Amino acid sequence: VTEEKIRPQYLKDYIGQPAVREQMEIFIPAAKARGEALDHVLIFGPPGLGKTTLSHIIANELGANLRQTSGPVLEKAGDLAALLTNLEPHDVLFVDEIHRLSPVVEEILYPAMEDFQLDIMIGEGPAARSIKLDLPPFTLVGATTRAGLLTSPLRDRFGIVQRLEFYNVPDLQYIVSRAAGILGVDIDDAGAYEIARRARGTPRIANRLLRRVRDYAQVKANGSIDAEVADQALNMLNVDQQGFDHMDRRLLLAVLEKFEGGPVGVDNVAAAIGEERGTIEDVLEPYLIQQGYLMRTPRGRMATKLAWNHFSLSIPDEKK
Ligand code: ADE
Repeated sequence: VTEEKIRPQYLKDYIGQPAVREQMEIFIPAAKARGEALDHVLIFGPPGLGKTTLSHIIANELGANLRQTSGPVLEKAGDLAALLTNLEPHDVLFVDEIHRLSPVVEEILYPAMEDFQLDIMIGEGPAARSIKLDLPPFTLVGATTRAGLLTSPLRDRFGIVQRLEFYNVPDLQYIVSRAAGILGVDIDDAGAYEIARRARGTPRIANRLLRRVRDYAQVKANGSIDAEVADQALNMLNVDQQGFDHMDRRLLLAVLEKFEGGPVGVDNVAAAIGEERGTIEDVLEPYLIQQGYLMRTPRGRMATKLAWNHFSLSIPDEKK
Protein backbone atom coordinates (compact mmCIF):
# COMPACT_ATOMS: atom_id res chain seq x y z
CA VAL A 1 0.00 0.00 0.00
CA THR A 2 1.48 3.35 -1.04
CA GLU A 3 1.41 6.70 0.75
CA GLU A 4 -1.06 7.84 -1.93
CA LYS A 5 -3.73 5.48 -0.59
CA ILE A 6 -3.27 6.70 2.97
CA ARG A 7 -3.63 10.38 2.14
CA PRO A 8 -7.11 11.84 2.38
CA GLN A 9 -8.54 12.83 -1.02
CA TYR A 10 -11.26 15.26 0.08
CA LEU A 11 -11.69 17.90 2.78
CA LYS A 12 -14.22 15.77 4.66
CA ASP A 13 -11.44 13.24 5.40
CA TYR A 14 -8.85 15.90 6.25
CA ILE A 15 -8.50 15.64 10.01
CA GLY A 16 -7.17 18.45 12.21
CA GLN A 17 -6.39 21.95 10.86
CA PRO A 18 -9.99 23.06 11.59
CA ALA A 19 -9.41 26.68 10.54
CA VAL A 20 -7.96 25.60 7.19
CA ARG A 21 -10.80 23.22 6.56
CA GLU A 22 -13.52 25.67 7.54
CA GLN A 23 -12.12 28.35 5.23
CA MET A 24 -11.44 26.08 2.26
CA GLU A 25 -14.95 24.60 2.56
CA ILE A 26 -16.18 28.13 1.80
CA PHE A 27 -13.62 29.43 -0.70
CA ILE A 28 -13.63 26.37 -2.99
CA PRO A 29 -17.41 26.01 -3.52
CA ALA A 30 -17.71 29.81 -3.88
CA ALA A 31 -15.12 29.92 -6.69
CA LYS A 32 -16.71 26.89 -8.34
CA ALA A 33 -20.19 28.43 -8.22
CA ARG A 34 -18.87 31.58 -9.91
CA GLY A 35 -17.17 29.46 -12.58
CA GLU A 36 -13.82 30.99 -11.69
CA ALA A 37 -10.41 29.62 -10.81
CA LEU A 38 -9.77 29.57 -7.07
CA ASP A 39 -7.52 32.40 -5.88
CA HIS A 40 -3.86 31.46 -5.45
CA VAL A 41 -3.13 29.63 -2.19
CA LEU A 42 0.01 29.82 -0.07
CA ILE A 43 0.42 26.95 2.40
CA PHE A 44 3.13 27.19 5.01
CA GLY A 45 4.19 25.19 8.02
CA PRO A 46 6.78 22.67 9.23
CA PRO A 47 7.49 19.56 7.11
CA GLY A 48 5.09 16.62 7.24
CA LEU A 49 1.92 18.45 8.27
CA GLY A 50 0.17 17.91 4.92
CA LYS A 51 1.05 20.73 2.53
CA THR A 52 1.21 18.38 -0.46
CA THR A 53 -1.85 16.48 0.75
CA LEU A 54 -3.82 19.71 0.96
CA SER A 55 -2.82 20.69 -2.58
CA HIS A 56 -4.13 17.34 -3.88
CA ILE A 57 -7.35 17.87 -1.94
CA ILE A 58 -7.80 21.37 -3.41
CA ALA A 59 -7.46 19.98 -6.95
CA ASN A 60 -9.83 17.10 -6.20
CA GLU A 61 -12.44 19.39 -4.66
CA LEU A 62 -12.20 21.70 -7.69
CA GLY A 63 -12.48 18.73 -10.05
CA ALA A 64 -9.32 20.00 -11.72
CA ASN A 65 -5.96 18.56 -12.74
CA LEU A 66 -2.97 18.93 -10.45
CA ARG A 67 0.44 19.71 -11.95
CA GLN A 68 3.32 19.41 -9.51
CA THR A 69 6.74 20.95 -9.46
CA SER A 70 9.11 22.58 -6.99
CA GLY A 71 11.16 25.75 -6.69
CA PRO A 72 14.62 24.22 -7.23
CA VAL A 73 13.43 22.18 -10.25
CA LEU A 74 12.38 25.30 -12.20
CA GLU A 75 15.81 26.46 -13.33
CA LYS A 76 14.94 28.54 -16.39
CA ALA A 77 12.04 30.80 -17.32
CA GLY A 78 11.17 28.30 -20.07
CA ASP A 79 10.67 25.50 -17.50
CA LEU A 80 7.85 27.42 -15.89
CA ALA A 81 6.50 28.67 -19.25
CA ALA A 82 6.17 25.07 -20.45
CA LEU A 83 4.10 24.13 -17.40
CA LEU A 84 1.90 27.23 -17.55
CA THR A 85 1.07 26.89 -21.26
CA ASN A 86 -0.03 23.28 -20.78
CA LEU A 87 -2.60 24.03 -18.09
CA GLU A 88 -6.33 23.67 -18.67
CA PRO A 89 -8.72 26.29 -17.28
CA HIS A 90 -9.02 26.14 -13.47
CA ASP A 91 -6.15 23.64 -13.09
CA VAL A 92 -3.97 23.69 -9.99
CA LEU A 93 -0.23 24.20 -10.30
CA PHE A 94 1.50 23.07 -7.11
CA VAL A 95 4.94 24.56 -6.49
CA ASP A 96 6.61 22.99 -3.47
CA GLU A 97 9.50 24.85 -1.79
CA ILE A 98 8.32 27.98 -3.55
CA HIS A 99 10.82 30.08 -1.54
CA ARG A 100 13.58 28.48 -3.64
CA LEU A 101 12.50 29.90 -7.03
CA SER A 102 15.22 31.69 -8.97
CA PRO A 103 14.62 35.44 -9.48
CA VAL A 104 14.12 35.04 -13.27
CA VAL A 105 11.46 32.39 -12.76
CA GLU A 106 9.78 34.48 -10.08
CA GLU A 107 9.56 37.41 -12.53
CA ILE A 108 7.60 35.19 -14.95
CA LEU A 109 5.28 34.17 -12.19
CA TYR A 110 4.09 37.68 -11.23
CA PRO A 111 2.12 38.53 -14.42
CA ALA A 112 1.06 34.88 -14.71
CA MET A 113 -0.53 35.01 -11.25
CA GLU A 114 -1.94 38.51 -11.52
CA ASP A 115 -3.26 38.71 -15.09
CA PHE A 116 -2.89 35.15 -16.43
CA GLN A 117 -0.31 36.58 -18.84
CA LEU A 118 2.90 34.94 -19.92
CA ASP A 119 5.57 37.49 -20.65
CA ILE A 120 8.72 35.86 -21.95
CA MET A 121 11.85 36.63 -23.97
CA ILE A 122 12.67 34.32 -26.87
CA GLY A 123 16.21 34.22 -28.24
CA GLU A 124 19.18 36.41 -27.40
CA GLY A 125 20.96 39.51 -28.65
CA PRO A 126 19.52 41.54 -31.58
CA ALA A 127 17.14 38.71 -32.52
CA ALA A 128 15.59 38.58 -29.05
CA ARG A 129 11.83 39.07 -28.92
CA SER A 130 9.41 39.51 -26.11
CA ILE A 131 6.18 37.57 -26.54
CA LYS A 132 2.98 37.79 -24.57
CA LEU A 133 0.56 34.90 -24.32
CA ASP A 134 -2.79 34.56 -22.58
CA LEU A 135 -2.84 31.76 -20.06
CA PRO A 136 -5.91 29.85 -18.92
CA PRO A 137 -7.13 31.00 -15.49
CA PHE A 138 -5.38 28.71 -13.01
CA THR A 139 -4.68 28.39 -9.30
CA LEU A 140 -1.13 28.47 -8.03
CA VAL A 141 -0.71 26.55 -4.79
CA GLY A 142 2.66 27.36 -3.26
CA ALA A 143 4.12 25.55 -0.27
CA THR A 144 6.95 26.59 2.01
CA THR A 145 8.18 25.82 5.50
CA ARG A 146 8.12 29.48 6.51
CA ALA A 147 6.18 32.35 4.94
CA GLY A 148 8.99 34.70 5.97
CA LEU A 149 11.27 33.07 3.39
CA LEU A 150 9.22 34.48 0.47
CA THR A 151 9.91 37.79 -1.19
CA SER A 152 7.13 40.20 -0.38
CA PRO A 153 5.96 40.72 -4.01
CA LEU A 154 5.43 36.97 -4.28
CA ARG A 155 3.72 36.69 -0.91
CA ASP A 156 1.39 39.58 -1.80
CA ARG A 157 0.05 37.73 -4.85
CA PHE A 158 -1.57 34.96 -2.84
CA GLY A 159 -5.22 35.69 -2.06
CA ILE A 160 -5.48 32.78 0.36
CA VAL A 161 -2.82 32.05 2.99
CA GLN A 162 -3.05 28.94 5.14
CA ARG A 163 -0.74 28.15 8.01
CA LEU A 164 -0.63 24.50 9.05
CA GLU A 165 -0.31 23.81 12.77
CA PHE A 166 1.03 20.80 14.65
CA TYR A 167 -1.71 18.21 15.22
CA ASN A 168 -3.06 17.38 18.65
CA VAL A 169 -2.84 13.82 19.97
CA PRO A 170 -6.51 12.81 19.46
CA ASP A 171 -6.38 13.92 15.81
CA LEU A 172 -3.11 12.04 15.27
CA GLN A 173 -4.58 8.98 16.97
CA TYR A 174 -7.46 9.07 14.51
CA ILE A 175 -4.99 9.43 11.61
CA VAL A 176 -2.95 6.44 12.87
CA SER A 177 -6.07 4.28 13.27
CA ARG A 178 -7.29 5.28 9.82
CA ALA A 179 -3.92 4.50 8.21
CA ALA A 180 -3.76 1.17 10.07
CA GLY A 181 -7.19 0.29 8.68
CA ILE A 182 -6.00 1.02 5.13
CA LEU A 183 -2.76 -0.95 5.69
CA GLY A 184 -4.60 -3.87 7.28
CA VAL A 185 -2.69 -3.55 10.57
CA ASP A 186 -4.32 -4.80 13.76
CA ILE A 187 -3.98 -2.02 16.35
CA ASP A 188 -6.01 -1.14 19.44
CA ASP A 189 -6.89 2.37 20.67
CA ALA A 190 -4.11 2.41 23.27
CA GLY A 191 -1.56 1.36 20.66
CA ALA A 192 -2.66 4.10 18.28
CA TYR A 193 -2.59 6.58 21.15
CA GLU A 194 0.99 5.64 22.06
CA ILE A 195 2.20 6.19 18.48
CA ALA A 196 0.21 9.44 18.19
CA ARG A 197 1.56 10.77 21.47
CA ARG A 198 5.17 10.28 20.32
CA ALA A 199 4.85 11.51 16.71
CA ARG A 200 5.98 15.16 17.14
CA GLY A 201 2.52 16.45 16.21
CA THR A 202 3.21 15.35 12.62
CA PRO A 203 1.11 12.95 10.49
CA ARG A 204 4.05 11.99 8.27
CA ILE A 205 6.02 10.91 11.34
CA ALA A 206 2.99 9.11 12.81
CA ASN A 207 2.52 7.12 9.61
CA ARG A 208 6.22 6.28 9.42
CA LEU A 209 6.28 5.15 13.06
CA LEU A 210 3.17 3.04 12.43
CA ARG A 211 5.01 1.12 9.68
CA ARG A 212 8.06 0.53 11.88
CA VAL A 213 5.95 -0.51 14.88
CA ARG A 214 4.10 -2.91 12.56
CA ASP A 215 7.47 -4.48 11.63
CA TYR A 216 8.34 -4.82 15.31
CA ALA A 217 4.95 -6.35 16.13
CA GLN A 218 5.35 -8.92 13.37
CA VAL A 219 8.80 -10.07 14.45
CA LYS A 220 8.72 -9.60 18.23
CA ALA A 221 5.03 -10.12 19.02
CA ASN A 222 2.00 -11.68 17.33
CA GLY A 223 1.57 -8.94 14.71
CA SER A 224 -0.94 -6.92 16.73
CA ILE A 225 -0.12 -3.49 18.12
CA ASP A 226 -1.14 -2.58 21.66
CA ALA A 227 0.31 0.06 24.00
CA GLU A 228 3.05 -2.24 25.28
CA VAL A 229 4.24 -3.34 21.83
CA ALA A 230 4.13 0.27 20.61
CA ASP A 231 6.13 1.45 23.62
CA GLN A 232 8.80 -1.23 23.16
CA ALA A 233 9.06 -0.56 19.43
CA LEU A 234 9.32 3.22 19.89
CA ASN A 235 12.00 2.77 22.54
CA MET A 236 13.94 0.58 20.12
CA LEU A 237 13.54 3.35 17.49
CA ASN A 238 15.08 5.87 19.92
CA VAL A 239 11.88 7.86 20.10
CA ASP A 240 11.70 8.97 23.71
CA GLN A 241 8.70 9.42 26.02
CA GLN A 242 8.14 12.98 24.73
CA GLY A 243 8.44 11.82 21.13
CA PHE A 244 11.83 13.45 20.70
CA ASP A 245 14.18 11.64 18.35
CA HIS A 246 17.96 11.44 18.26
CA MET A 247 18.37 14.84 16.55
CA ASP A 248 15.95 16.61 18.91
CA ARG A 249 17.94 15.34 21.88
CA ARG A 250 21.28 16.28 20.30
CA LEU A 251 20.02 19.82 19.76
CA LEU A 252 18.62 20.23 23.27
CA LEU A 253 21.66 18.64 24.92
CA ALA A 254 24.02 20.89 22.97
CA VAL A 255 22.19 24.00 24.16
CA LEU A 256 22.09 22.66 27.73
CA GLU A 257 25.56 21.19 28.12
CA LYS A 258 27.76 23.12 25.67
CA PHE A 259 26.11 26.50 26.09
CA GLU A 260 24.76 26.26 29.64
CA GLY A 261 21.19 26.54 28.42
CA GLY A 262 21.83 29.58 26.24
CA PRO A 263 21.15 32.12 24.97
CA VAL A 264 23.20 30.90 22.01
CA GLY A 265 23.10 31.88 18.35
CA VAL A 266 21.66 29.31 15.94
CA ASP A 267 24.91 29.21 13.93
CA ASN A 268 26.82 28.14 17.04
CA VAL A 269 24.26 25.41 17.70
CA ALA A 270 24.55 24.30 14.07
CA ALA A 271 28.33 24.03 14.34
CA ALA A 272 28.11 22.18 17.66
CA ILE A 273 25.82 19.43 16.36
CA GLY A 274 26.99 19.36 12.73
CA GLU A 275 23.58 20.15 11.30
CA GLU A 276 22.57 22.79 8.78
CA ARG A 277 21.09 25.99 10.12
CA GLY A 278 18.07 25.64 7.80
CA THR A 279 17.32 22.14 9.08
CA ILE A 280 17.51 23.35 12.66
CA GLU A 281 15.19 26.28 11.97
CA ASP A 282 12.65 24.50 9.76
CA VAL A 283 12.63 20.89 10.95
CA LEU A 284 13.91 20.63 14.52
CA GLU A 285 13.08 23.85 16.33
CA PRO A 286 9.40 24.45 15.53
CA TYR A 287 8.18 21.45 17.53
CA LEU A 288 10.61 22.00 20.43
CA ILE A 289 9.45 25.62 20.64
CA GLN A 290 5.77 24.72 20.37
CA GLN A 291 6.19 22.18 23.18
CA GLY A 292 7.96 24.76 25.36
CA TYR A 293 11.43 23.16 25.51
CA LEU A 294 13.22 25.88 23.57
CA MET A 295 12.76 29.64 23.12
CA ARG A 296 13.86 32.01 20.39
CA THR A 297 14.98 35.24 22.03
CA PRO A 298 16.66 38.32 20.54
CA ARG A 299 19.96 37.11 22.03
CA GLY A 300 19.62 33.55 20.71
CA ARG A 301 18.15 30.18 21.61
CA MET A 302 17.43 29.34 25.24
CA ALA A 303 16.53 26.03 26.82
CA THR A 304 13.60 26.18 29.24
CA LYS A 305 13.13 24.48 32.62
CA LEU A 306 11.23 21.71 30.84
CA ALA A 307 14.40 20.95 28.86
CA TRP A 308 16.64 20.79 31.97
CA ASN A 309 14.08 18.54 33.65
CA HIS A 310 13.63 16.30 30.61
CA PHE A 311 17.27 15.22 30.85
CA SER A 312 17.25 15.19 34.68
CA LEU A 313 19.89 17.93 34.71
CA SER A 314 19.95 20.43 37.55
CA ILE A 315 19.34 23.99 36.54
CA PRO A 316 22.37 26.22 37.23
CA ASP A 317 21.65 28.63 40.11
CA GLU A 318 21.91 31.76 37.97
CA LYS A 319 19.18 30.43 35.60
CA LYS A 320 16.60 29.70 38.29
N1 ADE B 1 -3.02 11.56 6.79
C1 ADE B 1 -2.07 12.49 6.79
N2 ADE B 1 -2.58 13.68 7.12
C2 ADE B 1 -3.89 13.51 7.34
C3 ADE B 1 -4.95 14.37 7.73
N3 ADE B 1 -4.76 15.66 7.95
N4 ADE B 1 -6.16 13.83 7.85
C4 ADE B 1 -6.34 12.51 7.62
N5 ADE B 1 -5.40 11.67 7.26
C5 ADE B 1 -4.17 12.14 7.13
